[in-house]
Amino acid sequence: MTPSTTIPRHIAIVMDGNGRWAKQRFLPRLAGHKQGVEALRRCVSACIERGVRVLTVFAFSSENWNRPQDEVSGLMNLLAGALAREVPGLSQEGVQLHFVGERASLSDKVKAGFAQAETSTAANHRLILNVCFNYGGRWDIAQAAERVAAQGLPMTEGNLSAAMALSHVADPDLLIRTGGESRISNFLLWQTAYSELYFSTALWPEFGAEQLDAAIADFATRERRFGQISEQIKHSSQQRVVA
Ligand code: FPP
Repeated sequence: MTPSTTIPRHIAIVMDGNGRWAKQRFLPRLAGHKQGVEALRRCVSACIERGVRVLTVFAFSSENWNRPQDEVSGLMNLLAGALAREVPGLSQEGVQLHFVGERASLSDKVKAGFAQAETSTAANHRLILNVCFNYGGRWDIAQAAERVAAQGLPMTEGNLSAAMALSHVADPDLLIRTGGESRISNFLLWQTAYSELYFSTALWPEFGAEQLDAAIADFATRERRFGQISEQIKHSSQQRVVA
């Protein structure tokens, strides 16, 4: 598919519904997370084919530590396995990987895996894939404020934005949440101020190219006004066509 102006440049996704997908099949929750990794892999390729430039996914929230211990350790092992297995193929597809979130409390093995994946994909430029891991939107705002204060800078929007964990990319155009819930759940609180929101009833392991296209088609119908009125938006886009 050819990239067009209606393709969002940056898509963010809350990948919800792995547990329910597994439960419906009388499988352990971890089986749902494993299918979730497959869905993420498919989604990355579909985004590249459609000309999306940045994909940001919520893989493990600051609050997910409160899940049963076996699910938390299962997710960590799944992550280690996925990194070892998937990074070479992702790199061949031109994916630049970033892990976004608080790292200090992660194991040395996970931290080393993140660093290796980031270094080995740093020169790729087809798609930036931000994996939010041990991430929370409130954590991000608080850590940015701490950094701005430590630099002795005024606490302005610009200085805070520059100190946020996703300062290497523009804000998401489209935020998708799967799994039928309609909430943000402490994801990109600062960065989604003007993102279009799309809620899908598909459970994350079921999410594929067809569901992604439905979300993008819905996005194409939205008028993004960024606080202005409709006539101002139409006027400025006409001027862009003339110029
Ligand atoms: C939410 O589903 C999903 C997660 C907490 C984990 C998302 C992780 C992946 C898709 C795999 C990729 C990440 C790693 C760590 C390799 P849920 O468990 O809350 O589903 P439920 O609402 O149906 O219970």
